[in-house]
Amino acid sequence: MLPIPRTWRVPTDVRWHRWPDEALVGVRRLSEDGVHVWRIGLDVPAARLAGLGTYLTPEEMARAERYRFPSPRRRFIAARGLLRELLGAYLELDPARLRFRQNAWGKPLLLEPPDALQFNVAHTDDLALIAVSAGGAVGIDVERVRPLAHPDRLAARTFSPLEYAAFRELPPSQQLEAFFAVWTRKEAYMKARGWGFHLPPDAFDVTVAPDAPPQLLADRQAPAEASRWSLHDLAVGTAYRGSLCVSSLARGP
Ligand SMILES: CC(C)(COP(=O)(O)OP(=O)(O)OC[C@H]1O[C@@H](n2cnc3c(N)ncnc32)[C@H](O)[C@@H]1OP(=O)(O)O)[C@@H](O)C(=O)NCCC(=O)NCCS
Repeated sequence: MLPIPRTWRVPTDVRWHRWPDEALVGVRRLSEDGVHVWRIGLDVPAARLAGLGTYLTPEEMARAERYRFPSPRRRFIAARGLLRELLGAYLELDPARLRFRQNAWGKPLLLEPPDALQFNVAHTDDLALIAVSAGGAVGIDVERVRPLAHPDRLAARTFSPLEYAAFRELPPSQQLEAFFAVWTRKEAYMKARGWGFHLPPDAFDVTVAPDAPPQLLADRQAPAEASRWSLHDLAVGTAYRGSLCVSSLARGP
């Protein structure tokens, strides 16, 4: 599916990462203006998990220990270990040698080697998506599409007025899918910017209909941003909605 052509409009394919590790063969073909998206299962066999754990720093292991229940603890170790393995394959470095830092809002970035690649991680249940870019910043989000008692109330609380008005106009049969489409589009942008939920979700607008081309329409706090990012829906299967946000600084056309 990838690398991405010279245009920065990224295809919406998801590159599948499978066990065992032969799927990592060829990852270094990420071109300078490319973005890869990997889909990864986090519930790995115990022996594999033990191996992944050896890449983690004492701080990362301490964070894992803070999860009270085994399943999220194991998934954190798997996600961090697999992220290290993947970035290590791109950079031809031992996964244990990679060092991360966080920006002011908690976004992990590469410290060593410094900013060699941009990446972002999202997970839900045992599914993780990892976006890797050789150019500008990326943000990614994935949600399991699950029944919500009151999607309308949640939308009223979290969407911008323009998004909420568009949401209300959709037939009820489309509202659940639309809720998760908007949610993941918004979160992908908030994560690409590196602010997470410190960026007020009602301060910017994305397209709402699930089948509408995903687009950042406006950012009232930072108007210039609207033309600096492209949004992409990710085909993660019918049970999930996934979105990717890519900086146009990842080499424009
Ligand atoms: C970043 C954030 C949007 C993630 O949302 P989420 O749906 O819970 O989780 P996701 O699976 O999509 O993403 C988690 C990953 O995002 C990455 N991440 C963390 N902070 C980030 C940020 N500011 N920007 C981009 N990515 C971030 C990490 O890799 C994290 O994975 P890890 O926990 O294994 O290290 C959210 O946690 C956030 O904004 N946090 C900061 C503000 C906060 O703590 N608010 C309290 C709740 S309002």
